[in-house]
Amino acid sequence: EKGGYEHFMLKEIEEQPTAVRDTLRGRFTATGEIALDEVRLSDQDLRDTDKVFIVACGTSYHAGLVAKYAIEHWTRLPCEVELASEFRYRDPVLDRSTLVIVISQSGETMDTIMALRHAKEQKARVLAISNTVGSTIPRESDAVLYTRAGLEVAVASTKAFLTQLVACYLVGLHLAQIRGVKYADEVAAILDELAAMPEKIQTVLAAMDPVRELARSLAGVQPVLFIGRHVGYPVALEGALKLKELAYLHAEGFAAGELKHGPISLIEDGTPVVVIVPSPRGRGLLHDKVVSNIQEVKARGAKVIAVAEDGDTAVVPHADEVVYVPVVPTLLAPLLTAVPLQVFACEVAGALGLEIDQPRNLAKSVTVE
Ligand code: F6R
Repeated sequence: EKGGYEHFMLKEIEEQPTAVRDTLRGRFTATGEIALDEVRLSDQDLRDTDKVFIVACGTSYHAGLVAKYAIEHWTRLPCEVELASEFRYRDPVLDRSTLVIVISQSGETMDTIMALRHAKEQKARVLAISNTVGSTIPRESDAVLYTRAGLEVAVASTKAFLTQLVACYLVGLHLAQIRGVKYADEVAAILDELAAMPEKIQTVLAAMDPVRELARSLAGVQPVLFIGRHVGYPVALEGALKLKELAYLHAEGFAAGELKHGPISLIEDGTPVVVIVPSPRGRGLLHDKVVSNIQEVKARGAKVIAVAEDGDTAVVPHADEVVYVPVVPTLLAPLLTAVPLQVFACEVAGALGLEIDQPRNLAKSVTVE
């Protein structure tokens, strides 16, 4: 059932173009509107939303962190993202005009279930994104959008993560449509870009040999730092989580702008720093700021591995290695930039002779709080 692959994780990484394509299939109505799978509330309920919370754990939480950028941009609703295990213990401000989006691959994560129940007790509306039809979380929610990643066997989440990102984008666009779209042209363009994504993910996957080689040459070196800005920041967190859980190495993700506020002191001669470089076409000069960050870590001896957009030559003089990914709108870039980090972690763990599909101390579904 591993279909010729040595590990499920490798198979599931390779299945990502298909998983993304499946998650997009048939999601639009004849009039171009995005439809959820199950809806037990009215469009008016969604229209009345004045605040969004996203609640999840682990990798699903990282998908939520990416979603915040898209949802706030497209809907102009304030959106907060919180770890499920923290959410209900701090008395969050919730009422019937709050939309709580819970993200859970398994649909059975106890921390997330308890957060969902707390939100419902406070009369908030709950929308679930899950990969498991009929599991507890979608059953207890007011609306559901299923990811269609198929069964994910490896404990470390890969294809589920990419499909969660897709589902988050769809929910963001759905909310924008329901609320009256301010960015109508942008929504149509984003849908086209999403449709083109499976092929672009395939392009990334086809170019992973240098990443594997790099991973083998760095296997065991720690710490490994991951830095990014904007949507690249959650990708950095996810890259670090993958390396921690699979290779048992100290890995940390940081917002690149925070480096100088502390973490830069970790850098020694040869410390690997993986940098998610924003598109040079993006707003706010973030690209140039990240190139400066690269120079700062480089000057302190870091070995810089940049994940950058095709054609971005500005990083070349400063980075030790550059992994290029196809050009896409900034908000969608995590669907591509996360992939080399998954491959990197998987390959490091393999080089260290570790059990890739079943890392120590971890379970696929965490059904205790
Ligand atoms: C990491 C990983 C975990 C899960 C987390 C939430 O690779 O798999 O961090 O993402 O336990 O699980 P779900 O999404 O099932 O609620």
